[in-house]
Amino acid sequence: MHLVMINQETIQRIMDATRIEEVIGEFVSLKKRGTNHIGCCPFHNEKTPSFNVSPSKGIYKCFGCGESGNAVGFLMKHEHYTYPEALRWLAKKYNIEVEEEKLTDEQIERNNERDALFHVSEFAQKYFASILYDNEMGVAIGLSYFHGRGLTDKVIKDFGLGYCLEEWDNFTRHARANGYSDNVLQKTGLTVFKDDGKFYDRFRGRVMFPIYSVSGRVLGFSGRVLSKEKQVAKYVNSPDSEIYNKSHILYGLYQAKNAITRQDKCYLVEGNIDVISMYQSGVENTVASCGTSLTIEQVRLMRRYTKNVTVLYDGDSAGIKAAFRAVNMLFEEGMHVRVVLFPDGDDPDSYAQKYGSTQLQEYLRDNESNFILFKTKILAADIKGDPIRKAEVLGDIVRTIALVPDLMERTEYVTQCASLLRVPEETLQNELAKTLNRKLYESLNHKPDENDKDIKEGDAQDGQQGEVQEQVQQPVQNPVVPFAINPAQSQERKIISLLLNYGNEIIEVVSQGENGQVVKENYTVAQVVVGDLLGDQLTFVDPVCQEIFNKYAECINNGVVNIDTQMFVTSENEHIRDFAVSMMIDDYHVSDKWQEKHIYVPTRQERVRTDVEESLLTFKLKKLDIKIDDIDRQFSYLADDEERLMLISQKMALIKIRQQLGAALNRVIS
Ligand code: CTP
Ligand code: MN
Repeated sequence: MHLVMINQETIQRIMDATRIEEVIGEFVSLKKRGTNHIGCCPFHNEKTPSFNVSPSKGIYKCFGCGESGNAVGFLMKHEHYTYPEALRWLAKKYNIEVEEEKLTDEQIERNNERDALFHVSEFAQKYFASILYDNEMGVAIGLSYFHGRGLTDKVIKDFGLGYCLEEWDNFTRHARANGYSDNVLQKTGLTVFKDDGKFYDRFRGRVMFPIYSVSGRVLGFSGRVLSKEKQVAKYVNSPDSEIYNKSHILYGLYQAKNAITRQDKCYLVEGNIDVISMYQSGVENTVASCGTSLTIEQVRLMRRYTKNVTVLYDGDSAGIKAAFRAVNMLFEEGMHVRVVLFPDGDDPDSYAQKYGSTQLQEYLRDNESNFILFKTKILAADIKGDPIRKAEVLGDIVRTIALVPDLMERTEYVTQCASLLRVPEETLQNELAKTLNRKLYESLNHKPDENDKDIKEGDAQDGQQGEVQEQVQQPVQNPVVPFAINPAQSQERKIISLLLNYGNEIIEVVSQGENGQVVKENYTVAQVVVGDLLGDQLTFVDPVCQEIFNKYAECINNGVVNIDTQMFVTSENEHIRDFAVSMMIDDYHVSDKWQEKHIYVPTRQERVRTDVEESLLTFKLKKLDIKIDDIDRQFSYLADDEERLMLISQKMALIKIRQQLGAALNRVIS
């Protein structure tokens, strides 16, 4: 058993050895095309290949679905590995010995204990399952209950269901007789010890639902009463322990995960029985959130398998509105959310039992609707002419729309929701712009903090991790919601593209010295671009461009000459990652117009330099145009002559600069 943390040098060695085309080549058949390799994307269905792998840059990008990243990211996405698991896979492939940092005695002890908890949980699951079939009472009570609810023996086995006898200490005695210590019985919560030394089984006379990790290890239990007595809790659950943390677990994920990946979609229901009933009805891609309201960890867990989730609400669920909050979390994590509302009084289980699996599947198919529109309709119904309520609802809807990462999708929501709420589209659009601006501001000023760390994989959900005490931090997604495309944006992109693809190349910059003499100096492209734009205090409209630029500026200010673009490719921010990868893989080429001119073929360095100059000038011209337009607009509002005069002189000054820039640009491009 390894009890380890992967150390930093090992990670470096693994990354150095990794050839992305070899890694991806194990899963996707790739053909070499130019300097890149291409194939059919494994993340979406396609017939013509749009999946690109760049060996030199160590990145992949699919132009069909937009997936992108490096080798580790590929393994995490494709194989659903955690970050440490992906590293180990690579280490194995490239025969790199994983250097492991020594654990303290305390850590070793904790791992031994975790292991013991896993063992006793598995033992308990087997015991409860055997009672269901081999014990007279188990068959008469437990099994007949499950059969009575319409469950087949196959699903009872697939979900490891069981029964615990209606006695005070039946299980505890059995476990003790098999050598399990009171300590582990207590820690898993299977046995409850009282102060006076007396003890009893936590689960008595209940049907048992074991809760599995993603890799199929038993972590805890949920036990349902059979009697209809109101004074006992319907479900008793294992308490949280070293191996079980209910807010990090999705009930049924172990059984559902392959179907979720295959269908690229997950159904989210409320109850254990709903999960099992859906599964039995052929809708295997279903999970539930273990009786808690949905947590961020559960959403991230789900996102390891798909970005598409459909939330199923009971028809009588009084908590639909309360549940809206939890759904916002799904959006924040970049999930696409749909919803199905069941007829009054039915949940997925009762519906399936009443009407059968074909009708359940049809119902799911025909009644799925977009979550935002669903929410808007429900909230709109409560406005009832109250303007204050209307403003609240508007704000609520806008905050949800603002969580959608895709611009086109957002625009569509604005149109449809405006009509549902009977407000002008511009009103909604303005509210949305305000919300987006605020979010953007926050995200740009945001420093990653402790709360942002992703699920620690050593935690309960992943049983495999019982053997590894992982301390390696997993990348975090911290979405920035991008602005609408702005006219200046293509210029901005070109500047960033130059930085990413040519930033470290040296160009010769010619300027006039103090005495009018010609001075030639060598700079990197990044130094020239950063110096020039910072000098003019120019900013980018697109927050992603701005952030990449800021990073360059920071490096240049710190005297870094060779700037490693991997930091963008592996950025915690998925927008930066995607943007950088697509800029790099598009491999924007410096201008080819020379060939048309037949005068002389300039050196690569000259071409790069010309392109840098041209891009900077064009960028500035565009900015000036926007400023001049702005002045024109202000002008039409102003009545005061003095103010008008001031604007005119500002405009004249700008036009003069514009002419100079234009002339410079002509010199460069002619
Ligand atoms: N739950 C719980 N503790 C309770 C009640 C409910 O943990 N006291 C959790 C269980 O995970 C349960 C889910 O909440 O599966 C949904 O509860 P409910 O709708 O009441 O139960 P069903 O799953 O519909 O169970 P059944 O159909 O057997 O009544
Ligand atoms: Mn039910």
